[in-house]
Amino acid sequence: MRALVTGALGQLGRALRRRTDEGRVPAGWEGAHVDWADLAEINIAEAASVDAWFDAHEPYDVVVNCAAMTNVDGCERNFPAAFAANALGPMNLARACARTGAALVHVSTDYVFPGTEPGERVEGDVPAPISAYGRSKLAGEGLALAANPRTHVVRTAWLYGEGHNFVATMLRLAARGDAVTVVDDQFGNPTSADDLSGELMRIALTDLFGTWHCTNEGTCSWADLAEEAFRLAGADCRVVRCSTEEWRRMNPTTAVRPRHSSLANARLEQTIGNSMRPWREALADYIAQTTDREA
Ligand SMILES: NC(=O)c1ccc[n+]([C@@H]2O[C@H](COP(=O)([O-])OP(=O)(O)OC[C@H]3O[C@@H](n4cnc5c(N)ncnc54)[C@H](OP(=O)(O)O)[C@@H]3O)[C@@H](O)[C@H]2O)c1
Repeated sequence: MRALVTGALGQLGRALRRRTDEGRVPAGWEGAHVDWADLAEINIAEAASVDAWFDAHEPYDVVVNCAAMTNVDGCERNFPAAFAANALGPMNLARACARTGAALVHVSTDYVFPGTEPGERVEGDVPAPISAYGRSKLAGEGLALAANPRTHVVRTAWLYGEGHNFVATMLRLAARGDAVTVVDDQFGNPTSADDLSGELMRIALTDLFGTWHCTNEGTCSWADLAEEAFRLAGADCRVVRCSTEEWRRMNPTTAVRPRHSSLANARLEQTIGNSMRPWREALADYIAQTTDREA
């Protein structure tokens, strides 16, 4: 197995690297040669940058794209940059993969859905994004699938790992104050980058190309997630719940986010099995490991 991981310094890229270094990989990934590239090595938004890398390296069996512009508010302010990274980027990678015979695993988001209906979305539900980030990511899905039929699009949600994420921000705020105001009417699936990285490796070993949903199991609000993180970390901080409307009055420039964006891992369940744990279990491991690393 020869693999390339782009966006290697992001949360998901780091999780894949840690899992690989620690040998916690499915059988097909044992002994794999993996190249790790971030923006300094490959700018996925530039076809020339992608092509130069592929021309300088032996063909890959699989490319896992973890690179993206993930700042949801930033995408709203600069759609051209969002489109370049999140739509043209996967297209450039998919074209290079098709040219060299590689499969592509491209990571996408629950924010492709509008979030107007309660309940969980399955892979076949019709997307209709309401933010610039969601629109750029949906375009990336379509362009990648069109450019390389051997593409897996894996939608995930509310990711946390090593890097910038909601849980880390909440724990930082809790260290500074005794209360944090958090939205309690947006619902989704908090997902461990480490758990997702293992599932991506399993998906990459299949030829069941197309769209997958992959999140930890269970749904909660951002306020529920903050409260659980504080409980697990033993942080002495109160969550003050607010509505999206109240939040937007306090923060008028933030992007609109879907209200109900929970995903069901339906295709995993129907095919190779769903190994994703309940979100609280995964979060407990993350907080224990983060505390260990900081100790
Ligand atoms: N984070 C979430 O809550 C969430 C939720 C749902 C889906 N996802 C998806 O999951 C995937 C991984 O997310 P993540 O949280 O690991 O992201 P992340 O931590 O923001 O990492 C993304 C990485 O990609 C790099 N990058 C940005 N633009 C690039 C470009 N043009 N070429 C090459 N590299 C570039 C970034 O570099 P810089 O830091 O230097 O910009 C960063 O190292 C993404 O596809 C994201 O859309 C994330």
